[in-house]
Amino acid sequence: MIIAVDGPAASGKGTIARALAKHFGLPHLDTGLLYRAVAARVLAEGLDPAREADVVAMCDFDESVLASPDLRSDHVGKTASIVSAHPLVRAALLQRQRRFAQQDGGAVLDGRDIGTVIAPDADVKLFVKATPAIRARRRHEELRRHGIDVSYDRVLADIRARDDRDSRRSEAPLRQAADAAALDTSFLSIEAAVQKAIALSEAQMARR
Ligand code: DC
Repeated sequence: MIIAVDGPAASGKGTIARALAKHFGLPHLDTGLLYRAVAARVLAEGLDPAREADVVAMCDFDESVLASPDLRSDHVGKTASIVSAHPLVRAALLQRQRRFAQQDGGAVLDGRDIGTVIAPDADVKLFVKATPAIRARRRHEELRRHGIDVSYDRVLADIRARDDRDSRRSEAPLRQAADAAALDTSFLSIEAAVQKAIALSEAQMARR
């Protein structure tokens, strides 16, 4: 049982993927963390994220680094979006994700290209989305809760820039797989979105 959850930044895909993993008793991998781990090493080493060969050398890291809270920052997220556009970086992280997806008993993975590239034969594929304005509002509230003083307009501009970069890159761009079910969380509470995700997953499982 492989469940693929894709979608843009701040769409709610991470929350939904974690809830599905809990509901169906499956292990979960937030694949964005892999790109964030590479980005954090690039920043720590003072490398240029645009230089593919330098970034590729940062792709061989131990899983234990994924637990670091530093990976969650917006700066690391933005850098992750830049390093993830390099085809050799995506290739270097591919097998790790495939192995996780293909483990006995199944798994839930969330990211940008799970249903299209990492696990094209997934049993369940969800594409989670919400309008840029609503995603920016959620991210803005979250940042303020953490004491980070940034304007809503700035957050919205960052979200749009990230959407642009993630969907325009040539390698594995963010897009809905043809056989994925769309889940628009714009006007749903977290609980309602999770309930809908469970219902959509069960409907897809029943079809197989
Ligand atoms: O989901 P996130 O914000 O943690 O992801 C950070 C960046 O990593 C995102 O902007 C693009 C990249 N990414 C990717 O290219 N493919 C994935 N499967 C997951 C993330």
